[in-house]
Amino acid sequence: MCTQSTDQKPASHTDNQQQEHKESKPKPAEVELRNVFHSYGEKRVLNDLNLSIYSGESTALIGTSGTGKSTTLRVISGLELPDSGDVLLRGWKREKPLSQERGKLRVSMVFQHAALFDSMSVYENVGFRLLQQRRLPEDRIYELVLEFLKRVDMEDAIEKFPEQLSGGMRKRVSLARAIIYDPDDDTSAPDLLLYDEPTAGLDPTASTRIENVIRNVQDVCPTSVVVTHQFSTIRRTADRVVLMHEGQVVWDGKVEQLETTDNPYVRQFMSGSLEGPLNSDSLRELTEGNP
Ligand SMILES: Nc1ncnc2c1ncn2[C@@H]1O[C@H](COP(=O)(O)OP(=O)(O)O)[C@@H](O)[C@H]1O
Ligand SMILES: [Mg+2]
Repeated sequence: MCTQSTDQKPASHTDNQQQEHKESKPKPAEVELRNVFHSYGEKRVLNDLNLSIYSGESTALIGTSGTGKSTTLRVISGLELPDSGDVLLRGWKREKPLSQERGKLRVSMVFQHAALFDSMSVYENVGFRLLQQRRLPEDRIYELVLEFLKRVDMEDAIEKFPEQLSGGMRKRVSLARAIIYDPDDDTSAPDLLLYDEPTAGLDPTASTRIENVIRNVQDVCPTSVVVTHQFSTIRRTADRVVLMHEGQVVWDGKVEQLETTDNPYVRQFMSGSLEGPLNSDSLRELTEGNP
C-alpha cells in the first residue's frame, strides 16, 4: 500500500502515460514497484513510480539524465529503501534494505562504473561471492571463474588487476562477476540482472561485445533490466522498453513500438528534438551519445 499522503502527490504524468505493453505479459511480476517515492534530501527523484518487471523479459529502462533510472535500480536491488511505496519481490514485500535482509530474489547488479575491488585480482573479483560462500573447493571456483571470463572474452586477464585493464575490459569483468554461478547448484544463479549503462562510454566494437554478452546470459538469467542511453543496446538486448521522466514511467511498450508510437515523450526521445515534454538540457546531453 502507498503510505504517501495525498498532498505529496505530484503533478502526474499519468494522463500522458501510454501502456503499449498490455497483451501477452508473462506473469507474475518478479518485481513490482507500487507508488514509490524517493528523495535525496530535498530533491525528489522517484515520484509515484509504478513499474513491474516480468519473468523472462529483458526491459530497457531509458530516459534523460537525472530522471531516476539508477535510483530505480538501487531500489529494485534493495541497496536503497524508498521513502514510501511498496517494493514487491515475487509478491513478497521488502521491509528492510539488502544489507539487513536478502529478500526473495537473487539480484545481481552491474554498476555503471564497474566497481571492481582495485586491490584484488580479476580472479578474486569474479570469484568473490563463491569464495565468500566457501561451498566449493578453490580449484572448482577457479574453473568457474575461467569459464565465466571466457563468456566475456576475458580469460587471459584472470591474473591481472583492474588498473591493468581498459574501461571496456573492466566492464566485461564486472559482467562476469554479476553472472557467475555454480551450474551444479541451481540456487546460485541470479534471478534478476540489473545493468546500469553497461555500454556507456564504449566504442561501437566494445559496445557490441557487451551487448552480445547480455544476450548470451539471457539463457541463464532471462529476466533483466538494462538502463541505457544507446539505441544499439536497446535494440539488441531488450524485449520491452520503459521510458522514465521525472521519476515516473511515461511510456511502456515493445521495442518495435518505439518507432511507431505517437507518445510525445518517445517521439522526442527518438528524434532528439529539443522541443517537447522532455527537459531540453538533459536531452542535449543524452543525444550527444546518439548521433
Ligand atoms: N546519493 C545521492 N545523493 C544525492 N543526490 C543523488 C544521489 N544519487 C542520485 N542523486 C540525484 O538524484 C537524481 C537522479 O539520479 P539518478 O537516479 O542517478 O538518475 P539517472 O540514473 O536517471 O541519471 C540526480 O539529480 C542525481 O544528482
Ligand atoms: Mg544513472
